[in-house]
Amino acid sequence: MVLTRRDLLAGATASMTGGGALRAQDAPRLSLTAAAARSRRRFGAAVRPEHLAAERPFREAVLRDCGSITPEIHLKWDALEPTRGERRHGPADELTAFAGRNALALRGHALIWERSTPAWALSAMAREGWPVVAGHFEQTLGRYGAACGVWDVVNEPIDVRAPGGLHRTAFLDAFGPGYIARALHAAHALAPAARLSINDYGFDYENEEEQARRKALLGLVSSLKREGAPLHVVGLQAHLDLSKGPLKPAPLARFLAQLADLGVEIEITELDVKESRLTAPIEARDAAVAAETRRYLEVALDQPAVVSVTTWGLTDRHSWLPALGGRMQGGEAVATTPEGYNRGLPYDALWRPKPMYQALHQSLAASPLARA
Ligand code: G3I
Repeated sequence: MVLTRRDLLAGATASMTGGGALRAQDAPRLSLTAAAARSRRRFGAAVRPEHLAAERPFREAVLRDCGSITPEIHLKWDALEPTRGERRHGPADELTAFAGRNALALRGHALIWERSTPAWALSAMAREGWPVVAGHFEQTLGRYGAACGVWDVVNEPIDVRAPGGLHRTAFLDAFGPGYIARALHAAHALAPAARLSINDYGFDYENEEEQARRKALLGLVSSLKREGAPLHVVGLQAHLDLSKGPLKPAPLARFLAQLADLGVEIEITELDVKESRLTAPIEARDAAVAAETRRYLEVALDQPAVVSVTTWGLTDRHSWLPALGGRMQGGEAVATTPEGYNRGLPYDALWRPKPMYQALHQSLAASPLARA
């Protein structure tokens, strides 16, 4: 059965598994998307089509809480063209259809990311140059360009340990630092209505590396804008980490203001919280995760240029972050008990909303307006 948002809000939702789960009648009151809309913002989550198809509670949570979705894996180059010339569109088509049926916005993630570039393309690029990248853009944006309001054109370009501050990748090697502007222009030509983004992590905490990363990002954005590249959005992943915290509000606020002054919108694209004390009592763990989420959002949502918040998944069950005594399976950390998971997403592994959910909801609902 295909469940739509309308069915859900009309009360067609089945009871969710696990004690303390959200009740259907609470859904409209507690929806994260409704809370975000109060300040003209969007709330969303990263998803995989196989989870949407197999897990009804997940589908219901997405339909209730999300105004947008980001394909966690299936718009990446290695998912779309694992072997040269053999395109696999099934999972991405499923996601775009799901988004279309349910009036959800889609974030296109990500055209260029070294880690998700298939091996054949890494070597072909070195031999054949830009046409290899251009072919991928044409195919991907030709099919999905208009379906996504925003595209992460380059993911994770910054590395302050590398000379020049850019990650040493096959793209940098083949095309030099101009590859970022070139990619933005190419994407703009193929998807002229889309807002284009660079997306990166590690700008949150007051350690030397993250301070240097902020400076490098500001430098990169400022030079791209100066040279007229079509860059509209900067995606801040916000993979928070309790071993580095707590966050310091003032420098974070200053950084966001500097970014906004460069004339870009800011999206929080991959929010989650990596725990540091996985063996502590569960209440203390959940309280620490919620407090860090609140601290981050209070600063971020005070900045009018921040227009959306996306969490990297909705439930701990699907988190990519290490589980206690767990193992990795298909890009997810699998634990044997709900407590065993990293508890850095809004719902636990049995679909019960946690204090992080309340932190998101309250911060989103209470924040000043985003700029129109
Ligand atoms: O595709 C193979 C599949 O054929 C095989 O059956 C399966 C068996 O393990 O592995 C599959 O690939 C995995 C893929 O997820 C799909 O399940 C990869 O090994 C695994 O590395 C991949 O991980 C994803 C990773 O990006 C790389 O695409 C994570 O789930 C996803 O959370 C992560 O997301 C990134 C963002 O895109 C960028 N920012 C950091 C974030 C976390 O790393």
